[in-house]
Amino acid sequence: MQDVFDKYLAQLSENLSILPDKDEESPHNTLKALWLAVSGSPVSVLKAESCELPELSDDDIVELEDLIEKRLNNVPLAHLTGRQLFMGMEMLAGPEALIPRKETEILGRAAIELLLEISDSVDSPRVVDVCTGAGNIALAMADADKSARVFAADLSEDAVGLARKNADFLGLSSQVEFFCGDLLTPLDNAGLYEKVHLLTCNPPYISTAKVSDMPEEISEHEPSMAFDGGAFGVNLIRTLIADAERFLCKNGYLLFEVGLGQGNLIRKQVEKAGAYKNIKTLNDDAGNPRVVMAQKT
Ligand SMILES: C[S@@+](CC[C@H](N)C(=O)[O-])C[C@H]1O[C@@H](n2cnc3c(N)ncnc32)[C@H](O)[C@@H]1O
Repeated sequence: MQDVFDKYLAQLSENLSILPDKDEESPHNTLKALWLAVSGSPVSVLKAESCELPELSDDDIVELEDLIEKRLNNVPLAHLTGRQLFMGMEMLAGPEALIPRKETEILGRAAIELLLEISDSVDSPRVVDVCTGAGNIALAMADADKSARVFAADLSEDAVGLARKNADFLGLSSQVEFFCGDLLTPLDNAGLYEKVHLLTCNPPYISTAKVSDMPEEISEHEPSMAFDGGAFGVNLIRTLIADAERFLCKNGYLLFEVGLGQGNLIRKQVEKAGAYKNIKTLNDDAGNPRVVMAQKT
């Protein structure tokens, strides 16, 4: 089997283009992930890195060739394996929702840290995650604090469908309720006004004009609704800042991801809203503000 592996590794090494934020998807790891997928044991690329590879049948090898071709034609690896790792959780991935990104772990880690702090003084904290996509942030919070009650929503029915599957896949369904609709409106009748301890959101924040300029692997295969944030990329964030206020309890936290270059402007908008205190931004490793965090007064 080593000669088969070497042959496909050479093909991928020569032809694979890798997105800058997905350096774990090297030719070697990509081949391991696709190999495991055709063998019937799909795992994320990061998990595949440390897995032993089984023998493949002739039929498996035909399927492997097909997946390699699709990958070289820019189909995202996570769509071919059906898996993506987020905050250490092996999750289901597919074209129904955005593939969870590493950069979003800044938001995920900060949310979990706050949630655990809130849990010290609150029995069963109520948490909301809007623009939930595949459910990654909502489920990471549910997993980190088994006492938390999580409410997750997205405008896309397909995304909510995948998020529900992920909740089942991770054994977290009893803790998380899913809703479909525009931002916080599907939660208007959930009895959550002024009761939410932590509200998270990773909204679409790319300006409409830039969405079609994204690499084909993204623009042709991931839902545009996951990226398109309107003319300046900040429409939904403005609504979020205004609407979160009626859901958060006193001292409740609002935490959301912003695009590169948006952090300082958006922080000022949160300040202007007048309903929040302790407003700050969290930076990525390069020093760019990528998360805005505020506490309701
Ligand atoms: C950047 S993705 C985030 C997905 C996931 N939370 C994550 O962190 O990977 C943005 C999500 O917002 C959803 N969305 C777009 N417009 C929305 C709206 N008006 N109301 C609710 N969700 C919306 C999209 O369907 C997409 O799932």
